Amino acid sequence: MGCIRNRRNCSVFPLFLRLLFIFLGSRGISAQSPVFACDVAKNPDLGNFGFCDSSMEIGDRVADLVKRLTLQEKIGFLVDKAGAVGRLGIPSYEWWSEALHGVSNVGPGTRFTSVVPGATSFPQVILTAASFNTSLFEAIGKVVSTEARAMYNVGLAGLTYWSPNVNIFRDPRWGRGQETPGEDPLLSSKYATGYVRGLQQTDGGDANRLKVAACCKHYTAYDVDAWKGVDRYHFNAKVTKQDMDDTFQPPFKSCVIDGNVASVMCSYNQVNGIPTCADPDLLAGTIRGEWKLNGYIVSDCDSVQVLYNDQHYTKTPEEAAAKSILAGLDLNCGSFLSQHTEAAVKGGNLIESAIDKAITNNFAVLMRLGFFEGDPSKQPYGKLGPKDVCTEQNQELAREAARQGIVLLKNTDGSLPLSTTAIKTVAVIGPNANVTKTMIGNYEGIPCKYTTPLQGLAASVSTLYQPGCLNVGCAGSSLQLDDAKKSASMADATVLIVGADQSVEAESRDRIDLHLPGQQELLITEVANVSKGPVILVIMSGGPMDISFAKADDRIRSILWVGYPGEAGGAAIADVIFGRFNPSGRLPVTWYPQSFADKVPMTNMNMRPDPATGYPGRTYRFYTGDTIYTFGDGLSYTQFNHHLVQAPKRVSIPLEEGHVCHSQSCKSVEVFQSSCENLAFEIHLRVRNAGKMDGSHTIFLFSTPPSVHNSPQKHLLGFEKVFLGSQTEQLVKLQVDVCKDLSVVDELGSRKVALGFHVLHVGSLKHSLSVRI
Ligand SMILES: *[C@@H]1O[C@H](CO)[C@@H](O)[C@H](O)[C@H]1NC(C)=O
Ligand SMILES: *[C@@H]1O[C@H](CO)[C@@H](O)[C@H](O)[C@H]1NC(C)=O
Ligand SMILES: *[C@@H]1O[C@H](CO)[C@@H](O)[C@H](O)[C@H]1NC(C)=O
Repeated sequence: MGCIRNRRNCSVFPLFLRLLFIFLGSRGISAQSPVFACDVAKNPDLGNFGFCDSSMEIGDRVADLVKRLTLQEKIGFLVDKAGAVGRLGIPSYEWWSEALHGVSNVGPGTRFTSVVPGATSFPQVILTAASFNTSLFEAIGKVVSTEARAMYNVGLAGLTYWSPNVNIFRDPRWGRGQETPGEDPLLSSKYATGYVRGLQQTDGGDANRLKVAACCKHYTAYDVDAWKGVDRYHFNAKVTKQDMDDTFQPPFKSCVIDGNVASVMCSYNQVNGIPTCADPDLLAGTIRGEWKLNGYIVSDCDSVQVLYNDQHYTKTPEEAAAKSILAGLDLNCGSFLSQHTEAAVKGGNLIESAIDKAITNNFAVLMRLGFFEGDPSKQPYGKLGPKDVCTEQNQELAREAARQGIVLLKNTDGSLPLSTTAIKTVAVIGPNANVTKTMIGNYEGIPCKYTTPLQGLAASVSTLYQPGCLNVGCAGSSLQLDDAKKSASMADATVLIVGADQSVEAESRDRIDLHLPGQQELLITEVANVSKGPVILVIMSGGPMDISFAKADDRIRSILWVGYPGEAGGAAIADVIFGRFNPSGRLPVTWYPQSFADKVPMTNMNMRPDPATGYPGRTYRFYTGDTIYTFGDGLSYTQFNHHLVQAPKRVSIPLEEGHVCHSQSCKSVEVFQSSCENLAFEIHLRVRNAGKMDGSHTIFLFSTPPSVHNSPQKHLLGFEKVFLGSQTEQLVKLQVDVCKDLSVVDELGSRKVALGFHVLHVGSLKHSLSVRI
């Protein structure tokens, strides 16, 4: 999503106008009523319309509505600010709302007033993903949709949310990596499914009924924002069929098939020369055809204008309108389709029935949301209101989510947790030590309240606070080394809180440098050198940082990565530092050294290494070079041991009579041709907490497939998070599906079961499994 050029809430919007709106908006802000159609109570005649009759099938109601509309009226329903049709009792509806990690006011469909001044702000997604806790993903989604419905009921929010962002975090420099669940297709798929299920809550009586509508974006292979003169509006992602099918598409596929999402958003970029929003194979073919999306396909904001204006993909605007609608686009964020679609029809580029198809998809989603059922207060979720937003319980979940995500990367000699009896004063130092807004990242709202790291720590001990430099940019001229060093030399422990914020990594802002910004490294080293007590380094960032200096520095005893931890971030950091919570987060991305960024162009989309050019490949699945930390890294205050209890040594796949593999030596067999379907087995592990502290632990099941078809060096088959009391153990069962988990995607994009030895790993355990026919 972008705020580009002429969009409404761009920062170019003059300040005085914004102030005027705030002033006008603050008058008469008693609770307002939500937007909805078919208000039969007010206008009984509307009861005669089939589309208002909730006893009819949705398909029939939508057909009834579409046939009543003129061409101009239909076109009004192709854009996010959908037109009103007074004669049918349909008010204008704003489709664009956001809820990436809490109800956000980034989209024009949602705002905060004194009726609902804020909403619960959960950690930025990259930190939540680090929890590897699928029930947490769904629990957060449920709270967010409860608050969203509550705000809709008082006229402050929409019903359609363009979240989550499930693009693979392919390159460490990407400014929007913070919004995503990381670099692994399985984790991203599980996150997408969990969060979408939480938001939409179709698990009630009627599976077709949506609490709110979610949207998986940005489809697809979108992860360059602005890097060395290349921007997302012009970028052509050159992607191999193989990378497409085993890296970029899986989160979207799961989102649609397993999450039943009500929408997918196409991106700005081109994929292999075709703008995604005008690609019939990607939209009509894959999303709607193959995956059977039950919902609408929306463009990123102004994508259709971008493919005409910036990419010059079509000669005329009418052609751009026609091409995208014919490719399968249903809704345009922006106004391009409202301006050019009529001319496209009149000029013969587009037939009206293509428009009918698009608005049919849009209306069907609104019907599932209850928009055409009259007074929302009489419907499911109708009783939710301001009292259900920012409840103590919701805010506690925000704190819990941050605790579960925080990753302990280094802890020399059990330096952490700090004991509040031994440690009386803590020097709290660094440009992120007392931040508020930085903690909620982007696509944020207004939080219920903030607990800054300083406030969190100060609740337990006395603190000596020094920012050390003015802001995360940490220019040499803003360094306040002497003050910072003085505090560190006096206190019983030093907590340095540094990292990034939206001035370093953001939408439209990719990084060049993976080091900590400005003079942060100097600040840390100098402070560590004079600290009286143990030094704890806290990195607040979305993307990974090259902190090799700190990893190697013995004076820095402990390192924590806290993402952008949300409104309760400071409380969660303190919970971990003082041992009220045993850290269990694991890195969802590889932390590369700066040399990676020096060598690898961000624009090279290839996941696989290329020995001919020295290109090292990307992510733990393919990259074999040096790392600072790797995917799945994360320590605990206790020790967990794994013991393999049960795993098969061989799996045999039955083949049809006469299959070519019977007569020659095959390295793999096509999944669709083999009988691996329903072939599954379980791996049983005994997991023991051998330490003194209770805690949660994530069990990762990786597999190294036989090296055929440029397969990954290892990939995640499954993960399971368990809570174990000190000195207790549990049997953990991991299910392995032969077709799905032991297959790889070949160079042409077909899924094949690799024959030969697959090495399964759990921690340091390795188990060889022979797959044969
Ligand atoms: C820390 O930040 C909070 C919230 O912005 C502010 O109220 C407080 O004064 C700050 N504390 C210090 C010591 O600067
Ligand atoms: C560390 O402190 C000592 C004095 O205690 C000083 O001599 C040395 O230069 C300092 N080193 C750094 C890297 O600041
Ligand atoms: C996963 O998250 C849920 C919701 O916060 C929590 O109740 C549960 O204990 C977590 N699971 C583990 C193993 O930590």
